[in-house]
Amino acid sequence: MELIDGIATRRSVRGFRATPVPEALLRQVLQVAGRSPSYTNTQPWEVSVVTGAKRDQLSLVLHDLAAAPAPVQSEVAAPLQWPAQLERRASEHNARRFKALAVERDDKGTRNALRLMNYQFFGAPCVLLLWLDKSLSEWSTFDLGLFTQTLALAAHGVGLGTCLQASLTHYPDVVRAFLGVPESKRLMLGISIGYSDPDAKLNNYQSARANLDEFVSWHD
Ligand SMILES: Cc1cc2nc3c(=O)[nH]c(=O)nc-3n(C[C@H](O)[C@H](O)[C@H](O)COP(=O)(O)O)c2cc1C
Repeated sequence: MELIDGIATRRSVRGFRATPVPEALLRQVLQVAGRSPSYTNTQPWEVSVVTGAKRDQLSLVLHDLAAAPAPVQSEVAAPLQWPAQLERRASEHNARRFKALAVERDDKGTRNALRLMNYQFFGAPCVLLLWLDKSLSEWSTFDLGLFTQTLALAAHGVGLGTCLQASLTHYPDVVRAFLGVPESKRLMLGISIGYSDPDAKLNNYQSARANLDEFVSWHD
């Protein structure tokens, strides 16, 4: 796959086949993601790969908490208020997504069921949890973003789909205890990874993007 074509065609996958991903393929994707640039080549990313029975148990634990719903404990702060333009993009994204899925605005039950699918990893046989040491600064968060996108593109390049999920950071204490990860690590992101199910309804939706002129200014 050509690089430009790969970048243009990557998209979030929210419906996976149960088919396990060979460990060698996961290793290949993770290894190449490790080629990502980072601040003074510090390579701050740390990844837990969760499959098999552990994957199923973690999904149950997180799903139960989210269904309760237990209060969100994420250690990655969201802004108190998004700038108006970003807020508009987010609400347009949600409106287009629900329209594509034929979910009515006031259908709280279906919306909640869709939300909870995050914690079932959208059926993916594998989930990656991304960590940073709590002592690190915004530069390392920047590096982790680069790592994440490289990983998503590498996965796409070998025929795997991914969904990056902030929702999987909602209960960090539980995830740390479950995986034996020290308290000194901050849970930054979850990534469901596996083979896309082309028949899954959730994969029908294609997200939009702002035009170049909305985010670029030219100075000559
Ligand atoms: C940091 C981050 C967190 C995200 N969290 C979630 C999530 O919890 N659940 C989800 O379904 N998608 C999540 N997404 C996926 C975005 O909704 C998606 O990338 C965006 O709508 C653009 O669509 P695309 O990835 O198909 O191009 C997240 C993406 C990023 C970068």
